[in-house]
Amino acid sequence: MKILGLSFSPREKGNTELLMEEVLAGAGGLGAETELCRAVEKDIRPCDACGSCFTTGECPIEDDMQDLYGKMLEADGILFGTPVYFYNMTAQGKCVIDRTIALNHGGKSLSSKVGAVVAVAGSLGLVDALKDLYFYMVTRQMLPASFIAAYGSNKGDVKDFDKCMKASSELGRQMVKIIEKKFTYPDGKANYIAYGTHTF
Ligand SMILES: Cc1cc2nc3c(=O)[nH]c(=O)nc-3n(C[C@H](O)[C@H](O)[C@H](O)COP(=O)(O)O)c2cc1C
Repeated sequence: MKILGLSFSPREKGNTELLMEEVLAGAGGLGAETELCRAVEKDIRPCDACGSCFTTGECPIEDDMQDLYGKMLEADGILFGTPVYFYNMTAQGKCVIDRTIALNHGGKSLSSKVGAVVAVAGSLGLVDALKDLYFYMVTRQMLPASFIAAYGSNKGDVKDFDKCMKASSELGRQMVKIIEKKFTYPDGKANYIAYGTHTF
């Protein structure tokens, strides 16, 4: 079982990554193979809406996202971690998320992968970032596990919250236990943004 941590924080070993490491350690304690990827260290350009993934199943942008696609598809669970920047996930996060539009084509899918989120804010915006990532997971037919919502401003602040650190490793264990249930969506190759007037 593989669990991929995708850090959208530009701050190495900041609050988001400290909590993500706890989540991954919790999952690792139950036998999961884990990896933390830092989006900021990668060359990941924004989606340019060329639309070719809709016909070819491939994104033509040759950058580090190509490697990340493989890691995301290989993973049984994906942990997203983001600090709140202006009431939302960071720009690094949005770049990655938008580029995954290419993943529900050509037989590729994030469907049925278990997802969880770590979000950290100095004061306001946690719900905004969480909401966007959970809606995202639903559109990708991922199975959402729980989340960590934490406050912290300076690097390392979250270490003072023992309960939060423990909850993070518990979240990692929860991910493993959900993955073990082997849930699968009935229509795992669907590609939609929302059911409704714009379903296609
Ligand atoms: C550009 C920028 C924008 C931010 N916007 C917000 C915000 O809207 N709300 C908030 O509560 N904190 C905001 N913060 C504070 C960060 O969320 C906070 O410092 C967090 O602990 C950073 O996480 P990290 O240590 O993982 O980088 C902002 C910080 C930066 C650098």
